[in-house]
Amino acid sequence: MISIKSSREIELMRKTCELARETLGYIEQFVKPGVSTLELNDLCHEYITERGAYPSPLNYHGFPKSVCTSLNEVICHGIPNKKDVLKDGDILNIDVTTYLNKFHGDTNKTFLVGNVSDKVKDLVDITYKCMREGINQVRPGGHIGDIGAVIQEIAHDHGYSVVEEYCGHGIGREFHEEPQVVHVGKKGTGAEMKPGMTFTIEPMINLGKRHCKLLNDGWTVVTKDKKFSAQFEHTILVTEAGHEILTLRPEEEVDFRL
Ligand code: MF3
Ligand code: CO
Ligand code: CO
Repeated sequence: MISIKSSREIELMRKTCELARETLGYIEQFVKPGVSTLELNDLCHEYITERGAYPSPLNYHGFPKSVCTSLNEVICHGIPNKKDVLKDGDILNIDVTTYLNKFHGDTNKTFLVGNVSDKVKDLVDITYKCMREGINQVRPGGHIGDIGAVIQEIAHDHGYSVVEEYCGHGIGREFHEEPQVVHVGKKGTGAEMKPGMTFTIEPMINLGKRHCKLLNDGWTVVTKDKKFSAQFEHTILVTEAGHEILTLRPEEEVDFRL
C-alpha cells in the first residue's frame, strides 16, 4: 500500500526535508582534499542533532554511522571512517536522511573533490540529468515506470549503466516505504502516481558495467569493475499540478527552470 500524506503530514515532510537539504548545503564547505569521511559524518551528525532531529541511518538495520559516504567506485551505503581521506580527483556522495517530528527526509549529492577529470565530471553531470529528468516525469496519472524509463534512456545514450539492485522508495513515517522506484523500466508500467504520495528518486549511474558487489562489512556496495559511480537523490511530493521537490536547494532552482 502506498500512503497518501494529508496536508498536515505534508507540512511535516517539508520540515524534515528542509533540514536534510540544509545539512547537505552546510557540509559542502568541508568537502576538500585532506578531510576524512568520518569528520564529515561527525559534522553532519552534530548539525542534525543540534536542530532537534535524528540522523535516520544511525543504527538503521545496524548501520553504524549518521550519513552514508560513498567514494569513487562505491555505489552506495559507504560507511564513514577515518582512513578514507579525500584527495584531489575524488568524487564523494554524501547521503543525508533526517528524522524530525516523526517524518524522514532523504537527499544526496555527489561532490567533486578538487580537480576531477573531464570523463568523471561528465558522469556526474549526466547522473544529475538522469535524476532531474526522472523528477520531471512525476505527475498525477503518470506511472512509476515512467521515471526509470527516462533515466535508463539518458544513461545508455551516454554509454553509462544503471544500477538495478538499489532503488528509490516511498518515504514518510518510515525511512523506506512503498513504492520501489526502480531506475530502469518501461513507460506506463508500475503504480499510478497520485497527489500526496512522497518518494525518492536516486539513480546510481556507473561509468562501466552495472554490476555491483557487497563488501564484507555488510554495507558498502562497490562496482564489480572498480570504475566510478555517481548518484543524486531528492525527496519528491506528487501534487495536483505535478510535483514539488521537497529537498531542492536554492542553487538548484536554475536547473529546474523554477
Ligand atoms: N539514504 C539511503 C537511501 O537513499 C539509505 C541508507 S540506509 C543506511 O535510501 F542504512 F545505509 F543508512
Ligand atoms: Co533514499
Ligand atoms: Co538517501
